[in-house]
Amino acid sequence: MKMISPSLLSADFGNLQRDIEMLNASECDWLHVDVMDGLFVPNISFGQPVIKYIKKHARKPLDVHLMIEDPGRYVQSFKEAGADILTIHYEACRHHDRVLHAIHDAGMQGGVVLNPSSPVSLLEDVIQLCDVVLLMSVNPGFGGQKFIENTYSKVRQLRELCSRKNPQCLIEVDGGVNLQNAPLLFEAGADVLVAGNAVFKSDDPVSTIRELRSKN
Ligand code: DX5
Ligand code: ZN
Repeated sequence: MKMISPSLLSADFGNLQRDIEMLNASECDWLHVDVMDGLFVPNISFGQPVIKYIKKHARKPLDVHLMIEDPGRYVQSFKEAGADILTIHYEACRHHDRVLHAIHDAGMQGGVVLNPSSPVSLLEDVIQLCDVVLLMSVNPGFGGQKFIENTYSKVRQLRELCSRKNPQCLIEVDGGVNLQNAPLLFEAGADVLVAGNAVFKSDDPVSTIRELRSKN
């Protein structure tokens, strides 16, 4: 499956409804929603009250990426805010098994996110519980950063792990994705590409989404 999840972090927050409607009308699959707590990552973005408004206008699943410490504290409240897919950082959580079960019990899809310096081997005993694994291809916290090249080999390693232990699991990549690296990421085995600046800073976001999606 080849999917695109545009990151609203790069949207115009003064015109959020307009940008969400643009995404509704585009060929994108999910809406990527970046939650940052100023502790796990240096930046602070937004939380549940803003997500409730995003949900009101969005007609596609909300792919909520939690860059927060101890994410298990907030599973239920992100469900109530409208998350459909909830991903938690491996590095920010002590009890992955428990939190992934809580995400599923709340009726969401769930998964683990790895920072660029966290090896794929960490997932060996948690991959069975993941609907999706998100590989960070930049250090989390900001949009518009440069893509880290060793992501391709991590995607291939993860593809191998998934084929052994959970073939249904989707592989998502986040950070610095653009029209040049998208085909290579799909070729390496990625299923879902997050794109912030590549979409929102382009002259024609709808056609950029179409182009990114066709790169497979
Ligand atoms: C970074 C966020 C990303 C970010 C991607 O911490 O997780 O989702 O918005 O933005 P680009 O595509 O501009 O790197
Ligand atoms: Zn993200």
